[in-house]
Amino acid sequence: EVPAALPRDLEGLRVAISAGGTREPLDPVRYLGNRSSGKQGYALARVAAQRGAEVTLVAGHTAELPAPAGATLARVSTAEELRTAMRSAAAEADVVVMAAAVADFRPASRAEHKIKKSDDAPDPVLTLDRNPDILAELVRERRDGQTVVGFAAETGDEHGSVLEHAHAKLRRKGADLLVVNAVGDGKAFGTEDNSGWLLTADGGEEAIPLGAKARLAATLWDAVTALRARRSR
Ligand code: CTP
Ligand code: CA
Repeated sequence: EVPAALPRDLEGLRVAISAGGTREPLDPVRYLGNRSSGKQGYALARVAAQRGAEVTLVAGHTAELPAPAGATLARVSTAEELRTAMRSAAAEADVVVMAAAVADFRPASRAEHKIKKSDDAPDPVLTLDRNPDILAELVRERRDGQTVVGFAAETGDEHGSVLEHAHAKLRRKGADLLVVNAVGDGKAFGTEDNSGWLLTADGGEEAIPLGAKARLAATLWDAVTALRARRSR
């Protein structure tokens, strides 16, 4: 449980958070999307604002969620829109958190008119293009003293465990912190609770017990403030 009276320990901190899923249009009525609810990103924004931070929340598509009190909310749809909004928010932020589920691929072309089926023509084949890696780009553009946080949903496979994949992803992206959720079996997507690990760039690894998404948010903000305090000494 999050205590009723939260510390105002994020006073003066400007944070930019992305949440929810992107949608990549195929034609005027169809898109490629994902099941992200946005709940974890919204919880991060709400808790940060309650603790005194100046919050910009860039939200893609989400379940129906109340706007977090005290946060500036920008709504986006595609990965490209999310990228533009996050780059401009990040330019004025001390902490950047990419909690959004960004589509890795988008349809290579967007039909101007609704795609029709026809008995005289072959069925369409979808060609996809890679979307930009927004987190990696925000790391490359990082301002002095800025802290960058990523999220990763991982399953283990024949190439490695959840944590091995996650440590490799953190190194690849160059972020300061990575929140890792193990997925599969109905975990994480759309649920009220979350669990996982918090990884730091120096190889640190802290388990996050199963709890409300607001609880995980509080743990992440504690880790961010601890990291920033270490760096400023
Ligand atoms: N992310 C991003 N831009 C993308 C894809 C992902 O900024 N085009 C961010 C997510 O918001 C998240 C982090 O990168 O903070 C990790 O996302 P994830 O999908 O786990 O990583 P990917 O690099 O896309 O690798 P994978 O092939 O495992 O999906
Ligand atoms: Ca991905």
